[in-house]
Amino acid sequence: MAKIILSILLVCLIATVMMVSADPAPFKQCMSNGVFFPQSLDITPAKPKAGDTLVAVATGTVSATVPSGILYADIYLSGVRLFEFTYDLCKSVSGGCPITPGTKAITIQNSIPSFAFPGTYNTVASAYADASKTKEIACVSFNFTIA
Ligand SMILES: *[C@@H]1O[C@H](CO)[C@@H](O)[C@H](O)[C@H]1NC(C)=O
Repeated sequence: MAKIILSILLVCLIATVMMVSADPAPFKQCMSNGVFFPQSLDITPAKPKAGDTLVAVATGTVSATVPSGILYADIYLSGVRLFEFTYDLCKSVSGGCPITPGTKAITIQNSIPSFAFPGTYNTVASAYADASKTKEIACVSFNFTIA
């Protein structure tokens, strides 16, 4: 009997974990000669609503040391840029700066305004090694839909 209850609890637990954890989301690498090669993208929550905090984590490989950087997230709806968010790349990348070669996760997090229209938003997250936006080092593009 205890074993049955335990198995039921375990099944519930696994089901809960599967519901909470984000599904890998489709993405595109939008530059070819960067130093960060994204392998997977997780977006939480998977079905965001206006007012939610959206967290996108891109995991991939860094091929060269980068002293510091700036990360921009441009958000478009129907081709029109609605927002540009700026992040300190050193605070967004796992392990901080200098960014060393190896497997790294880059996290961007933002709250979706409560007045955001439903629709599919395109995000272009691009990282630069300098503030003048000349040395691009990474670019990942992905979509999320607000119901
Ligand atoms: C995002 O949506 C646009 C417009 O529908 C599409 O062209 C693009 O391929 C999508 N990007 C991804 C990563 O799925």
